[in-house]
Amino acid sequence: MQVGEWEGRVGRKWAAEWRRTDRSFGGLTDELLARIRVLPFSKVLDVGCGAGELSLAVSRINSASEIIGVDISEDLLDAARSRAESHTNVVFESSNAAQWSHGAFAPDLIMSRHGVMFFEDPTAAFHHLAGLAAPNCRMVFSCFRDVAQNPWASEISDLLPAELSDPPQSMVPGPFAFADKDAVLDMLAQAGWQNAVMEPFDFAYIAGAGNDPVADALSYFLAIGPASRGAALLGPEQRAQFVGRLEDYLSKNRDGNLVALRAATWIVTANTPD
Ligand SMILES: C[S@@+](CC[C@H](N)C(=O)[O-])C[C@H]1O[C@@H](n2cnc3c(N)ncnc32)[C@H](O)[C@@H]1O
Repeated sequence: MQVGEWEGRVGRKWAAEWRRTDRSFGGLTDELLARIRVLPFSKVLDVGCGAGELSLAVSRINSASEIIGVDISEDLLDAARSRAESHTNVVFESSNAAQWSHGAFAPDLIMSRHGVMFFEDPTAAFHHLAGLAAPNCRMVFSCFRDVAQNPWASEISDLLPAELSDPPQSMVPGPFAFADKDAVLDMLAQAGWQNAVMEPFDFAYIAGAGNDPVADALSYFLAIGPASRGAALLGPEQRAQFVGRLEDYLSKNRDGNLVALRAATWIVTANTPD
């Protein structure tokens, strides 16, 4: 991904699509919340909070906690704030999390649903976060495993003309930057995080639902993700052919009133020293 895309075009699209992204990531959200629910926490930082789903869910779990969601997309922050009116313990702040601080606020829980893979220098960013965190701050975040294990990305990219394929590289900002377990564990150790563990977690990525789940999934994939990125680069004829292939692919993955594709993630946990 290009640095700055979240602040502009990509953030705008995600802001318009937050209902469908929360639906598609629902299985992952449940897993993150199950892990967070059992932790002691009172001050929470949600890194790359997007439209705020995780912050708002954690505020429901512990309404006495103070939660700050941080993001670089003003459009996503607007969406998050519009959903948070009844949540007096949650604020959303515009900031690069790699440089963020808020007075003496020292989080004892740092969390993220897929918001940490876009740092230009992940070691420096996680070092910064470790430095401002409370002693024994717990961290829980999710990120994608290898693209080949994520058919919602790999199989859809395969439907694009070969010249548009852009294989992700380890630690280069983008959705698959943290796919390489050893590289991420090394990075976290260098950044001052202890006891880092990465556990695989797969979930059903709900791309389409309702009476016409294929049409729903088609419009969703043409709005965000690798299909939309690729389709935007095609001329009218190639685009129409690609959309036809995508529709066939989604029809084959329809099951009743759902189109669901496998998504493969890491759930990463770590803590700062006591
Ligand atoms: C894949 S989206 C996930 C959003 C949200 N956590 C969710 O689950 O819906 C990645 C998010 O990270 C944000 N982001 C990217 N780089 C960031 C940075 N350096 N600091 C803060 N937020 C960042 C993006 O703007 C975007 O909202």
